Amino acid sequence: MERLVVYLLVISTAVKAMMCPKRCMCQNLSPSFTILCTKTGLLFVPPSIDRRTAELRLMDNFITTLRRKDFANMTNLIHLTLSRNTISQIMPYAFFDLKGLHALHLDSNRLTYINEDHFKGLINLRHLILSNNQLNCISPGSLDDFIETIEDLDLSYNNLVNVPWETIAKLSNVNTVSLDHNLIEFVPEGIFSNLHKLARLDMTSNKLKKIPPDPLFSRIPVYAKSKGSPLSSLVLSFGGNPLHCNCELVWLRRLTREDDLETCASPPELMGKYFWSIKEEEFVCEPPMITHRTPKLTVTEGQSASLKCKAVGDPDPYVRWISPDGKLVSNTSRTISYENGTLDILVTSLTDKGTFTCIASNAAGESTAPVKLLVTPYPNLANSTNCDKDAEPGPSDILISAKSTKPSAYISCCVVPFLHFCGVMGIKLTGMN
Ligand SMILES: *[C@@H]1O[C@H](CO)[C@@H](O)[C@H](O)[C@H]1NC(C)=O
Ligand SMILES: *[C@@H]1O[C@H](CO)[C@@H](O)[C@H](O)[C@H]1NC(C)=O
Ligand SMILES: *[C@@H]1O[C@H](CO)[C@@H](O)[C@H](O)[C@H]1NC(C)=O
Ligand SMILES: *[C@@H]1O[C@H](CO)[C@@H](O)[C@H](O)[C@H]1NC(C)=O
Repeated sequence: MERLVVYLLVISTAVKAMMCPKRCMCQNLSPSFTILCTKTGLLFVPPSIDRRTAELRLMDNFITTLRRKDFANMTNLIHLTLSRNTISQIMPYAFFDLKGLHALHLDSNRLTYINEDHFKGLINLRHLILSNNQLNCISPGSLDDFIETIEDLDLSYNNLVNVPWETIAKLSNVNTVSLDHNLIEFVPEGIFSNLHKLARLDMTSNKLKKIPPDPLFSRIPVYAKSKGSPLSSLVLSFGGNPLHCNCELVWLRRLTREDDLETCASPPELMGKYFWSIKEEEFVCEPPMITHRTPKLTVTEGQSASLKCKAVGDPDPYVRWISPDGKLVSNTSRTISYENGTLDILVTSLTDKGTFTCIASNAAGESTAPVKLLVTPYPNLANSTNCDKDAEPGPSDILISAKSTKPSAYISCCVVPFLHFCGVMGIKLTGMN
Protein backbone atom coordinates (compact mmCIF):
# COMPACT_ATOMS: atom_id res chain seq x y z
CA MET A 1 0.00 0.00 0.00
CA GLU A 2 2.72 2.48 1.06
CA ARG A 3 4.76 1.61 -1.98
CA LEU A 4 1.79 2.21 -4.19
CA VAL A 5 1.21 5.69 -2.74
CA VAL A 6 4.87 6.61 -3.27
CA TYR A 7 4.67 5.23 -6.76
CA LEU A 8 1.60 7.32 -7.58
CA LEU A 9 3.22 10.40 -6.10
CA VAL A 10 6.27 9.96 -8.30
CA ILE A 11 4.08 9.50 -11.36
CA SER A 12 1.99 12.57 -10.64
CA THR A 13 4.99 14.87 -10.08
CA ALA A 14 6.56 13.46 -13.24
CA VAL A 15 3.40 14.26 -15.18
CA LYS A 16 3.29 17.77 -13.76
CA ALA A 17 6.93 18.43 -14.63
CA MET A 18 6.37 17.16 -18.13
CA MET A 19 3.56 19.64 -18.68
CA CYS A 20 5.83 22.64 -18.26
CA PRO A 21 7.78 23.10 -21.48
CA LYS A 22 11.54 23.32 -21.28
CA ARG A 23 12.95 26.72 -20.20
CA CYS A 24 9.46 28.01 -19.45
CA MET A 25 8.04 29.05 -16.11
CA CYS A 26 4.80 27.47 -15.06
CA GLN A 27 2.58 28.47 -12.19
CA ASN A 28 -0.38 26.56 -11.01
CA LEU A 29 -2.19 29.17 -9.02
CA SER A 30 -5.39 27.20 -8.95
CA PRO A 31 -7.69 27.56 -10.71
CA SER A 32 -5.57 29.39 -13.24
CA PHE A 33 -2.63 27.73 -14.85
CA THR A 34 -0.04 30.13 -16.24
CA ILE A 35 2.83 29.43 -18.60
CA LEU A 36 5.54 31.97 -19.30
CA CYS A 37 7.99 31.31 -22.10
CA THR A 38 9.49 34.69 -22.88
CA LYS A 39 12.88 35.18 -24.53
CA THR A 40 13.50 31.47 -24.66
CA GLY A 41 14.41 31.28 -28.33
CA LEU A 42 11.29 29.36 -29.27
CA LEU A 43 10.90 28.69 -32.99
CA PHE A 44 7.38 27.35 -32.61
CA VAL A 45 4.70 26.98 -29.97
CA PRO A 46 5.85 24.12 -27.70
CA PRO A 47 3.66 21.04 -28.15
CA SER A 48 3.85 20.08 -24.47
CA ILE A 49 1.70 22.93 -23.21
CA ASP A 50 -0.90 21.85 -20.67
CA ARG A 51 -4.27 22.09 -22.37
CA ARG A 52 -5.83 23.48 -19.19
CA THR A 53 -3.64 26.61 -19.28
CA ALA A 54 -5.47 29.87 -18.70
CA GLU A 55 -2.65 32.25 -19.46
CA LEU A 56 0.04 31.65 -22.02
CA ARG A 57 2.74 34.21 -22.68
CA LEU A 58 5.12 33.51 -25.54
CA MET A 59 6.46 36.96 -26.33
CA ASP A 60 10.00 37.78 -27.50
CA ASN A 61 10.66 34.54 -29.34
CA PHE A 62 11.13 33.57 -32.97
CA ILE A 63 7.85 31.86 -33.73
CA THR A 64 7.04 32.22 -37.43
CA THR A 65 3.90 30.16 -37.92
CA LEU A 66 0.85 29.43 -35.79
CA ARG A 67 -0.43 25.96 -36.55
CA ARG A 68 -3.82 24.39 -36.02
CA LYS A 69 -2.50 22.00 -33.33
CA ASP A 70 -0.66 24.71 -31.36
CA PHE A 71 -3.70 25.75 -29.35
CA ALA A 72 -5.95 22.75 -29.91
CA ASN A 73 -8.32 21.93 -27.04
CA MET A 74 -7.26 24.94 -24.98
CA THR A 75 -10.78 25.91 -24.10
CA ASN A 76 -9.69 27.43 -20.75
CA LEU A 77 -7.20 29.83 -22.26
CA ILE A 78 -8.10 33.42 -21.42
CA HIS A 79 -4.97 35.33 -22.25
CA LEU A 80 -2.61 34.62 -25.12
CA THR A 81 0.40 36.81 -25.79
CA LEU A 82 2.49 36.33 -28.90
CA SER A 83 3.95 39.82 -29.11
CA ARG A 84 7.38 40.42 -30.62
CA ASN A 85 7.86 37.21 -32.52
CA THR A 86 8.30 36.84 -36.27
CA ILE A 87 4.86 35.45 -37.05
CA SER A 88 4.03 35.84 -40.71
CA GLN A 89 1.60 32.97 -41.08
CA ILE A 90 -1.48 31.94 -39.18
CA MET A 91 -2.92 28.65 -40.39
CA PRO A 92 -6.69 28.59 -40.88
CA TYR A 93 -8.60 27.87 -37.68
CA ALA A 94 -5.45 28.10 -35.54
CA PHE A 95 -7.47 29.67 -32.71
CA PHE A 96 -10.63 27.68 -33.30
CA ASP A 97 -10.75 25.96 -29.89
CA LEU A 98 -10.12 29.10 -27.89
CA LYS A 99 -13.76 29.71 -27.04
CA GLY A 100 -12.85 31.37 -23.75
CA LEU A 101 -10.06 33.64 -24.97
CA HIS A 102 -10.43 37.26 -23.90
CA ALA A 103 -7.17 38.79 -25.05
CA LEU A 104 -5.01 38.04 -28.04
CA HIS A 105 -1.77 39.98 -28.42
CA LEU A 106 -0.14 39.63 -31.81
CA ASP A 107 1.62 42.98 -31.92
CA SER A 108 5.10 43.38 -33.40
CA ASN A 109 5.01 40.47 -35.77
CA ARG A 110 5.12 40.16 -39.55
CA LEU A 111 1.52 39.63 -40.50
CA THR A 112 0.58 41.11 -43.85
CA TYR A 113 -3.11 40.22 -44.05
CA ILE A 114 -6.00 38.84 -42.04
CA ASN A 115 -8.64 36.77 -43.72
CA GLU A 116 -11.91 35.11 -42.77
CA ASP A 117 -10.55 31.89 -41.27
CA HIS A 118 -7.70 33.31 -39.20
CA PHE A 119 -9.75 34.31 -36.18
CA LYS A 120 -12.57 31.81 -36.44
CA GLY A 121 -13.77 30.48 -33.10
CA LEU A 122 -12.78 33.43 -30.92
CA ILE A 123 -16.33 34.01 -29.76
CA ASN A 124 -15.40 35.71 -26.49
CA LEU A 125 -12.56 37.91 -27.61
CA ARG A 126 -12.43 41.37 -26.01
CA HIS A 127 -8.93 42.62 -26.83
CA LEU A 128 -7.29 42.12 -30.18
CA ILE A 129 -3.91 43.76 -30.52
CA LEU A 130 -2.44 43.69 -34.02
CA SER A 131 -0.29 46.81 -33.91
CA ASN A 132 3.16 46.94 -35.46
CA ASN A 133 2.69 44.37 -38.17
CA GLN A 134 2.70 44.91 -41.93
CA LEU A 135 -1.00 44.51 -42.46
CA ASN A 136 -2.29 45.81 -45.74
CA CYS A 137 -5.56 43.95 -45.88
CA ILE A 138 -8.22 42.87 -43.43
CA SER A 139 -11.06 40.89 -44.97
CA PRO A 140 -14.49 42.16 -43.98
CA GLY A 141 -15.63 38.86 -42.47
CA SER A 142 -12.49 38.23 -40.45
CA LEU A 143 -13.71 39.89 -37.24
CA ASP A 144 -17.22 38.43 -37.36
CA ASP A 145 -16.90 35.91 -34.52
CA PHE A 146 -16.28 38.62 -31.92
CA ILE A 147 -18.13 41.49 -33.52
CA GLU A 148 -20.30 41.93 -30.44
CA THR A 149 -17.74 41.19 -27.72
CA ILE A 150 -14.64 43.09 -28.81
CA GLU A 151 -13.82 46.10 -26.62
CA ASP A 152 -10.40 47.04 -27.81
CA LEU A 153 -9.22 46.76 -31.39
CA ASP A 154 -5.70 47.91 -32.10
CA LEU A 155 -4.63 48.06 -35.73
CA SER A 156 -2.12 50.86 -35.33
CA TYR A 157 1.28 50.96 -37.02
CA ASN A 158 0.40 48.90 -40.07
CA ASN A 159 0.15 49.60 -43.80
CA LEU A 160 -3.61 49.77 -44.07
CA VAL A 161 -5.01 51.92 -46.86
CA ASN A 162 -8.46 50.43 -46.48
CA VAL A 163 -10.24 49.36 -43.33
CA PRO A 164 -13.28 47.05 -43.43
CA TRP A 165 -15.54 49.92 -42.38
CA GLU A 166 -18.77 47.93 -42.62
CA THR A 167 -17.33 45.62 -39.97
CA ILE A 168 -16.08 48.46 -37.79
CA ALA A 169 -19.60 49.90 -37.90
CA LYS A 170 -20.94 46.75 -36.23
CA LEU A 171 -18.55 46.53 -33.27
CA SER A 172 -21.34 47.34 -30.83
CA ASN A 173 -19.29 46.79 -27.67
CA VAL A 174 -16.12 48.53 -28.73
CA ASN A 175 -14.53 51.08 -26.45
CA THR A 176 -11.22 51.77 -28.16
CA VAL A 177 -10.37 51.69 -31.85
CA SER A 178 -6.78 52.44 -32.77
CA LEU A 179 -6.16 53.04 -36.44
CA ASP A 180 -3.27 55.44 -36.06
CA HIS A 181 -0.09 55.28 -38.11
CA ASN A 182 -1.53 53.67 -41.20
CA LEU A 183 -2.15 54.89 -44.75
CA ILE A 184 -5.88 55.44 -44.49
CA GLU A 185 -7.17 57.98 -46.98
CA PHE A 186 -10.87 57.91 -46.41
CA VAL A 187 -13.40 57.50 -43.62
CA PRO A 188 -16.99 56.99 -44.77
CA GLU A 189 -19.66 59.09 -43.14
CA GLY A 190 -21.80 57.57 -40.41
CA ILE A 191 -19.55 54.60 -39.65
CA PHE A 192 -19.44 55.23 -35.91
CA SER A 193 -23.09 56.05 -35.36
CA ASN A 194 -23.97 52.77 -33.61
CA LEU A 195 -20.82 52.42 -31.54
CA HIS A 196 -22.43 53.69 -28.35
CA LYS A 197 -19.55 52.65 -26.12
CA LEU A 198 -16.78 54.17 -28.19
CA ALA A 199 -14.59 56.29 -25.93
CA ARG A 200 -11.37 56.51 -27.86
CA LEU A 201 -10.83 56.70 -31.57
CA ASP A 202 -7.30 57.24 -32.77
CA MET A 203 -6.74 58.16 -36.39
CA THR A 204 -3.46 59.99 -35.90
CA SER A 205 -0.89 59.93 -38.71
CA ASN A 206 -2.81 58.67 -41.67
CA LYS A 207 -3.49 60.18 -45.09
CA LEU A 208 -6.84 61.70 -44.24
CA LYS A 209 -7.77 64.97 -45.90
CA LYS A 210 -11.02 65.11 -44.06
CA ILE A 211 -12.95 63.38 -41.33
CA PRO A 212 -16.68 63.42 -41.85
CA PRO A 213 -18.90 64.46 -38.95
CA ASP A 214 -20.69 61.45 -37.54
CA PRO A 215 -24.07 61.27 -35.79
CA LEU A 216 -22.19 59.78 -32.83
CA PHE A 217 -20.04 62.88 -32.54
CA SER A 218 -23.08 65.08 -32.13
CA ARG A 219 -24.67 62.87 -29.46
CA ILE A 220 -21.80 62.85 -27.02
CA PRO A 221 -19.11 65.36 -26.15
CA VAL A 222 -16.07 64.86 -28.32
CA TYR A 223 -12.64 65.85 -27.20
CA ALA A 224 -9.56 66.06 -29.29
CA LYS A 225 -7.34 65.31 -26.34
CA SER A 226 -7.65 62.77 -23.55
CA LYS A 227 -6.34 64.94 -20.71
CA GLY A 228 -9.21 66.19 -18.62
CA SER A 229 -11.93 64.77 -20.80
CA PRO A 230 -14.80 63.57 -18.67
CA LEU A 231 -16.22 60.07 -18.65
CA SER A 232 -18.86 59.18 -21.23
CA SER A 233 -17.16 61.32 -23.80
CA LEU A 234 -15.24 60.42 -26.90
CA VAL A 235 -11.62 61.27 -27.44
CA LEU A 236 -10.88 61.67 -31.10
CA SER A 237 -7.24 61.99 -32.18
CA PHE A 238 -6.53 63.07 -35.73
CA GLY A 239 -3.19 64.88 -35.73
CA GLY A 240 -0.60 64.09 -38.38
CA ASN A 241 -3.05 63.94 -41.28
CA PRO A 242 -2.87 66.13 -44.41
CA LEU A 243 -6.05 67.95 -43.45
CA HIS A 244 -7.79 69.98 -46.08
CA CYS A 245 -9.10 72.85 -43.98
CA ASN A 246 -12.30 73.92 -45.69
CA CYS A 247 -15.85 74.35 -44.40
CA GLU A 248 -16.26 70.58 -44.03
CA LEU A 249 -13.86 70.62 -41.09
CA VAL A 250 -15.56 73.37 -39.12
CA TRP A 251 -17.18 70.76 -36.87
CA LEU A 252 -13.74 69.41 -36.01
CA ARG A 253 -12.48 72.91 -35.26
CA ARG A 254 -15.31 73.30 -32.75
CA LEU A 255 -14.17 70.35 -30.61
CA THR A 256 -12.83 70.92 -27.15
CA ARG A 257 -9.09 70.43 -27.09
CA GLU A 258 -5.85 71.29 -25.43
CA ASP A 259 -2.95 72.89 -27.25
CA ASP A 260 -2.05 70.62 -30.08
CA LEU A 261 0.21 70.76 -33.04
CA GLU A 262 -2.11 69.65 -35.83
CA THR A 263 -1.62 71.63 -39.00
CA CYS A 264 -3.50 72.07 -42.27
CA ALA A 265 -2.01 70.71 -45.48
CA SER A 266 -4.30 72.69 -47.80
CA PRO A 267 -5.76 74.93 -49.21
CA PRO A 268 -2.55 76.84 -50.05
CA GLU A 269 -3.42 79.87 -47.93
CA LEU A 270 -3.77 77.71 -44.81
CA MET A 271 -0.93 75.31 -45.51
CA GLY A 272 1.24 74.69 -42.47
CA LYS A 273 -0.91 76.79 -40.16
CA TYR A 274 -1.84 75.34 -36.81
CA PHE A 275 -5.31 73.88 -37.00
CA TRP A 276 -6.43 75.33 -33.70
CA SER A 277 -5.04 78.79 -34.42
CA ILE A 278 -7.16 79.24 -37.55
CA LYS A 279 -10.43 81.06 -37.05
CA GLU A 280 -13.61 79.21 -37.82
CA GLU A 281 -14.50 81.72 -40.55
CA GLU A 282 -11.34 80.82 -42.43
CA PHE A 283 -12.50 77.26 -43.00
CA VAL A 284 -14.27 78.14 -46.24
CA CYS A 285 -15.64 76.27 -49.24
CA GLU A 286 -16.02 77.49 -52.80
CA PRO A 287 -19.27 76.78 -54.63
CA PRO A 288 -18.87 74.93 -57.94
CA MET A 289 -18.15 76.80 -61.13
CA ILE A 290 -18.54 75.06 -64.46
CA THR A 291 -15.42 75.82 -66.44
CA HIS A 292 -15.79 73.67 -69.53
CA ARG A 293 -18.66 71.90 -71.16
CA THR A 294 -19.71 70.52 -74.52
CA PRO A 295 -21.92 73.35 -75.81
CA LYS A 296 -23.56 71.29 -78.50
CA LEU A 297 -23.02 67.86 -79.95
CA THR A 298 -24.43 66.31 -83.10
CA VAL A 299 -24.37 62.57 -83.58
CA THR A 300 -25.98 60.10 -85.90
CA GLU A 301 -28.49 57.81 -84.32
CA GLY A 302 -26.73 54.72 -82.96
CA GLN A 303 -23.38 56.40 -82.48
CA SER A 304 -22.03 57.02 -79.03
CA ALA A 305 -22.08 60.48 -77.52
CA SER A 306 -19.82 61.88 -74.84
CA LEU A 307 -21.17 64.96 -73.09
CA LYS A 308 -18.63 66.78 -70.94
CA CYS A 309 -19.05 69.16 -68.10
CA LYS A 310 -16.11 70.18 -65.97
CA ALA A 311 -16.48 72.04 -62.73
CA VAL A 312 -14.14 73.41 -60.10
CA GLY A 313 -14.86 74.23 -56.48
CA ASP A 314 -13.86 73.37 -52.95
CA PRO A 315 -14.55 70.60 -52.06
CA ASP A 316 -14.32 68.98 -55.50
CA PRO A 317 -17.81 69.15 -56.99
CA TYR A 318 -19.55 66.06 -58.24
CA VAL A 319 -21.56 66.23 -61.43
CA ARG A 320 -24.94 64.75 -62.23
CA TRP A 321 -26.97 65.00 -65.40
CA ILE A 322 -30.64 65.67 -66.09
CA SER A 323 -31.96 64.29 -69.38
CA PRO A 324 -34.11 66.39 -71.76
CA ASP A 325 -37.23 64.80 -70.26
CA GLY A 326 -36.24 66.02 -66.81
CA LYS A 327 -35.00 62.78 -65.27
CA LEU A 328 -31.77 62.23 -63.37
CA VAL A 329 -29.50 60.13 -65.57
CA SER A 330 -28.25 57.03 -63.77
CA ASN A 331 -25.81 54.36 -64.84
CA THR A 332 -27.46 51.87 -67.15
CA SER A 333 -26.28 49.52 -69.85
CA ARG A 334 -26.57 52.46 -72.24
CA THR A 335 -25.43 55.43 -70.15
CA ILE A 336 -22.50 56.02 -67.80
CA SER A 337 -22.32 59.13 -65.71
CA TYR A 338 -18.70 59.53 -64.56
CA GLU A 339 -17.77 61.44 -61.45
CA ASN A 340 -15.49 63.73 -63.44
CA GLY A 341 -18.52 65.10 -65.24
CA THR A 342 -18.49 63.06 -68.44
CA LEU A 343 -21.77 61.49 -69.53
CA ASP A 344 -21.33 58.69 -72.05
CA ILE A 345 -24.30 57.54 -74.04
CA LEU A 346 -23.06 54.36 -75.64
CA VAL A 347 -25.80 54.04 -78.26
CA THR A 348 -27.81 57.14 -78.99
CA SER A 349 -31.39 56.98 -80.09
CA LEU A 350 -33.56 59.68 -81.60
CA THR A 351 -35.35 60.09 -78.28
CA ASP A 352 -32.11 61.24 -76.64
CA LYS A 353 -32.10 64.52 -78.51
CA GLY A 354 -32.70 67.70 -76.60
CA THR A 355 -31.05 69.75 -73.91
CA PHE A 356 -29.27 67.93 -71.11
CA THR A 357 -28.42 69.80 -67.93
CA CYS A 358 -25.31 69.15 -65.95
CA ILE A 359 -25.46 69.94 -62.25
CA ALA A 360 -22.23 70.37 -60.33
CA SER A 361 -22.64 70.36 -56.56
CA ASN A 362 -20.56 70.45 -53.42
CA ALA A 363 -20.94 71.43 -49.78
CA ALA A 364 -21.06 75.11 -50.76
CA GLY A 365 -23.67 75.02 -53.51
CA GLU A 366 -24.67 74.09 -57.00
CA SER A 367 -24.12 75.24 -60.55
CA THR A 368 -25.84 74.13 -63.75
CA ALA A 369 -25.22 74.35 -67.49
CA PRO A 370 -27.15 73.21 -70.56
CA VAL A 371 -25.66 70.83 -73.11
CA LYS A 372 -27.49 70.31 -76.41
CA LEU A 373 -27.54 66.94 -78.08
CA LEU A 374 -28.74 66.61 -81.64
CA VAL A 375 -29.38 63.12 -82.96
CA THR A 376 -29.86 62.76 -86.70
CA PRO A 377 -31.63 59.72 -88.09
CA TYR A 378 -29.52 57.05 -89.67
CA PRO A 379 -29.66 57.30 -93.52
CA ASN A 380 -32.13 54.85 -94.97
CA LEU A 381 -30.23 51.69 -95.41
CA ALA A 382 -32.57 49.72 -97.59
CA ASN A 383 -31.68 52.02 -100.47
CA SER A 384 -27.94 51.34 -100.40
CA THR A 385 -26.90 49.65 -103.64
CA ASN A 386 -23.87 47.64 -102.50
CA CYS A 387 -26.05 46.02 -99.93
CA ASP A 388 -27.36 43.32 -102.21
CA LYS A 389 -24.05 41.77 -103.06
CA ASP A 390 -23.01 41.46 -99.42
CA ALA A 391 -26.39 40.26 -98.32
CA GLU A 392 -26.15 37.12 -96.28
CA PRO A 393 -29.05 34.75 -96.05
CA GLY A 394 -28.95 34.69 -92.27
CA PRO A 395 -28.91 37.77 -90.02
CA SER A 396 -26.43 38.17 -87.18
CA ASP A 397 -26.71 36.27 -83.91
CA ILE A 398 -28.24 39.17 -82.11
CA LEU A 399 -30.89 39.47 -84.72
CA ILE A 400 -31.69 35.79 -84.66
CA SER A 401 -32.08 35.88 -80.94
CA ALA A 402 -34.39 38.84 -81.38
CA LYS A 403 -36.48 36.80 -83.84
CA SER A 404 -35.99 39.45 -86.40
CA THR A 405 -37.58 39.72 -89.80
CA LYS A 406 -36.63 41.45 -93.00
CA PRO A 407 -36.07 45.06 -91.96
CA SER A 408 -33.50 44.04 -89.39
CA ALA A 409 -31.77 41.74 -91.81
CA TYR A 410 -31.26 44.67 -94.14
CA ILE A 411 -29.75 46.68 -91.37
CA SER A 412 -27.44 43.92 -90.28
CA CYS A 413 -26.13 43.66 -93.81
CA CYS A 414 -25.44 47.31 -94.33
CA VAL A 415 -24.29 48.58 -91.00
CA VAL A 416 -20.93 46.94 -90.90
CA PRO A 417 -19.14 49.80 -89.11
CA PHE A 418 -21.88 49.90 -86.49
CA LEU A 419 -22.40 46.24 -85.81
CA HIS A 420 -23.20 46.92 -82.18
CA PHE A 421 -25.76 49.54 -83.06
CA CYS A 422 -27.11 47.24 -85.72
CA GLY A 423 -28.05 44.60 -83.22
CA VAL A 424 -29.75 47.05 -80.99
CA MET A 425 -31.63 48.54 -83.92
CA GLY A 426 -32.71 45.10 -84.99
CA ILE A 427 -34.19 44.40 -81.60
CA LYS A 428 -35.85 47.76 -81.60
CA LEU A 429 -37.50 47.31 -84.96
CA THR A 430 -38.74 43.91 -84.03
CA GLY A 431 -40.05 45.19 -80.78
CA MET A 432 -41.95 47.92 -82.54
CA ASN A 433 -43.54 45.65 -85.11
C1 LIG B 1 -7.67 17.37 -28.48
O1 LIG B 1 -8.73 16.55 -28.05
C2 LIG B 1 -9.03 15.49 -28.90
C3 LIG B 1 -10.25 14.78 -28.38
O2 LIG B 1 -10.23 14.70 -26.99
C4 LIG B 1 -7.82 14.58 -29.04
O3 LIG B 1 -8.09 13.53 -29.95
C5 LIG B 1 -6.65 15.38 -29.54
O4 LIG B 1 -5.50 14.58 -29.58
C6 LIG B 1 -6.40 16.56 -28.66
N1 LIG B 1 -5.37 17.38 -29.28
C7 LIG B 1 -4.39 17.88 -28.57
C8 LIG B 1 -3.34 18.63 -29.35
O5 LIG B 1 -4.29 17.77 -27.39
C1 LIG C 1 -21.31 55.18 -62.93
O1 LIG C 1 -20.23 54.33 -63.22
C2 LIG C 1 -18.95 54.98 -63.19
C3 LIG C 1 -17.92 54.04 -63.74
O2 LIG C 1 -18.10 52.76 -63.21
C4 LIG C 1 -18.69 55.44 -61.79
O3 LIG C 1 -17.44 56.09 -61.72
C5 LIG C 1 -19.78 56.40 -61.36
O4 LIG C 1 -19.61 56.78 -60.02
C6 LIG C 1 -21.15 55.79 -61.54
N1 LIG C 1 -22.14 56.83 -61.38
C7 LIG C 1 -23.19 56.73 -60.58
C8 LIG C 1 -24.13 57.87 -60.54
O5 LIG C 1 -23.39 55.72 -59.90
C1 LIG D 1 -13.79 61.14 -67.35
O1 LIG D 1 -13.55 59.78 -67.10
C2 LIG D 1 -13.79 58.94 -68.20
C3 LIG D 1 -13.58 57.52 -67.74
O2 LIG D 1 -12.51 57.41 -66.91
C4 LIG D 1 -12.88 59.33 -69.36
O3 LIG D 1 -13.17 58.50 -70.47
C5 LIG D 1 -13.13 60.78 -69.70
O4 LIG D 1 -12.25 61.19 -70.72
C6 LIG D 1 -12.96 61.66 -68.49
N1 LIG D 1 -13.33 63.01 -68.85
C7 LIG D 1 -12.64 64.08 -68.51
C8 LIG D 1 -13.19 65.39 -68.94
O5 LIG D 1 -11.60 64.00 -67.88
C1 LIG E 1 -35.29 54.78 -101.58
O1 LIG E 1 -34.90 55.29 -102.85
C2 LIG E 1 -36.01 55.50 -103.65
C3 LIG E 1 -35.47 55.88 -105.01
O2 LIG E 1 -34.22 56.55 -104.93
C4 LIG E 1 -36.89 56.58 -103.07
O3 LIG E 1 -38.02 56.78 -103.91
C5 LIG E 1 -37.36 56.11 -101.71
O4 LIG E 1 -38.10 57.13 -101.10
C6 LIG E 1 -36.19 55.80 -100.87
N1 LIG E 1 -36.67 55.24 -99.63
C7 LIG E 1 -36.52 55.82 -98.44
C8 LIG E 1 -37.11 55.13 -97.29
O5 LIG E 1 -35.85 56.84 -98.31
